[in-house]
Amino acid sequence: MNVGVLVSGSGTNLQALIDRSTRNELGPARLTVVGCNVPDCPALSRARLAGLPTFIVDHRDHGDRAAFDRTLVEALRAHQVDLVVLAGFMRVLSGELLDAFPGRVINIHPALLPAFPGVHGVRQAYDAAVKIAGCTVHFVDRGVDTGPIIAQAAVQVQDDDDDEALRARILAEEHRLLPAVVRAIAERRVVVEGRRVRVLGAAPGNDPLRSL
Ligand code: GRF
Repeated sequence: MNVGVLVSGSGTNLQALIDRSTRNELGPARLTVVGCNVPDCPALSRARLAGLPTFIVDHRDHGDRAAFDRTLVEALRAHQVDLVVLAGFMRVLSGELLDAFPGRVINIHPALLPAFPGVHGVRQAYDAAVKIAGCTVHFVDRGVDTGPIIAQAAVQVQDDDDDEALRARILAEEHRLLPAVVRAIAERRVVVEGRRVRVLGAAPGNDPLRSL
């Protein structure tokens, strides 16, 4: 299964995928290409260092979301991508890309959806003074962080956490969860029944991490 990863920022989730791939821990998933909408983002350097093909699609060069998405689709198709992974990709997609890869676009979000969608998930969870925070990997639909949930990992919020400490602890879980889900999808262990998604072979509690 060819995996295309879209990034915009620091790329630590991309790095987690690269590291797992290097250790042959992604099952039949193969990182095929990394696409980015920010020309000089650190994630791109990680991809290049790993010897992965990259492409840049600058959203500022496109008139609207649909045109931007069409260019993305072209680039992903040129690399025969089967699964699109949004790993810190900070653009909302239009229907164009979702239609081109139906049921084959996933996203990692740093909160326990459906709580705290959007770009400030960690900050909002922290400000809400929740006791349990975490991250979610979900299929992407036309909403913002609203698609069917594939897997989640929880972290305890400590009394002395500030939002940066919390963010770091959540990120560490993201780095475990995302590769586990990519592998599960590539191994065809992810079964979608409407909004309900089952990860076959996951430990009780839908914990795909422990199936690795
Ligand atoms: C992660 O927290 C991810 O959940 C969110 O954006 C952040 C990306 O971090 N969507 P990185 O670029 O993978 O380091």
